[in-house]
Amino acid sequence: MKRVFSGVQPTSQIHIGNYIGAIKRFVELQNDMDCFFCIVDLHSVTVPQNPKELYKNSLQLAALYMAVGLDPSKVTLFIQSHVPAHSELAWLLQCNSYMGELNRMTQFKEKSLGKDTVTTGLYTYPVLMAADILLYDTHFVPVGNDQKQHLELCRDISIRFNKKYGETFIVPEPLISKFGARIMSLDDATNKMSKSNENKHSKINLLDSPSKIKKSIMKAVTDSESEVRFDVENKPGVSNLMTIYNILGDLPLEDIENKYEGLGYGAFKKDLVEIVVSGLEPIQSKYEEILASGEVEKVLKEGADRAREVSNEVLNSVKKKMGFVIL
Ligand code: AMP
Ligand code: TRP
Repeated sequence: MKRVFSGVQPTSQIHIGNYIGAIKRFVELQNDMDCFFCIVDLHSVTVPQNPKELYKNSLQLAALYMAVGLDPSKVTLFIQSHVPAHSELAWLLQCNSYMGELNRMTQFKEKSLGKDTVTTGLYTYPVLMAADILLYDTHFVPVGNDQKQHLELCRDISIRFNKKYGETFIVPEPLISKFGARIMSLDDATNKMSKSNENKHSKINLLDSPSKIKKSIMKAVTDSESEVRFDVENKPGVSNLMTIYNILGDLPLEDIENKYEGLGYGAFKKDLVEIVVSGLEPIQSKYEEILASGEVEKVLKEGADRAREVSNEVLNSVKKKMGFVIL
């Protein structure tokens, strides 16, 4: 069975960009592949975190993973910091990667722009991500478009290591969908929907109330025309909303165009509110159920046990190849 690995940071709330670009696809993969889905808390602390929030968000993300339909009897769900091999392999890979290649990472440039101080963890973050993936003999990594460059670095590091020390790592392939891999911000369709955007109406979080969802969608930027037409270049705002409509409402773009011909943005947005609210409602009620059941900790403990077992094997083979003494 092929292996899948992916991670989401327990930073702030999870939005529909995360859902459409990554998490919804995790659910689709769980029946056919051996999947590891991680709550990457070590990645979160590359930028300042409130400890209480980080704690709460980590457990919340685990409950959300299950609420969207990930079945713990099929997939391995775990918290990154519960498996020390991630930090350990990250160090070994840092000693096999170069400043030149990290300097090229656009996400580091974006995240450090205008900051007085930037942690070295933020700089080496893509190497930790490579360690996450390589530790599980991963074949496929489902992610949104913004992680493409990090995946290329991971592939480069694994290929280089294999050449230097002999076949050790499986070289992973990214799984980035052609459509929906970059959901844009609702207040500015030239930027991706992002957890760090302070305008709460720039995004829809999976746990948002119907009234908040309605407000955010009704406020979403469109353009001065009134035609519902998919045209990313000239109509990025409308096209972004149509992408969400298409994926959550399961209606082809052409049918959406036909349905709203002559009706304008008002009718389109009103229906989109319905689609998003009814799409998120079952996730939200399942989320409450899962939190109340108290099963989250048990699932995470079992997940970490399996993750430790699998990753230790890979870590030991890396150490052997590099010449570390193993007794
Ligand atoms: P993060 O919140 O950075 O941990 O992202 C978790 C997953 O969601 C990653 O696979 C990202 O590539 C994906 N993702 C984040 N933002 C978006 C977005 N606006 N559109 C599509 N996918 C996204
Ligand atoms: N860097 C990813 C993000 O910010 C999260 C992540 C960490 C990840 N490790 C990973 C994604 C391994 C896929 C595989 O979205």
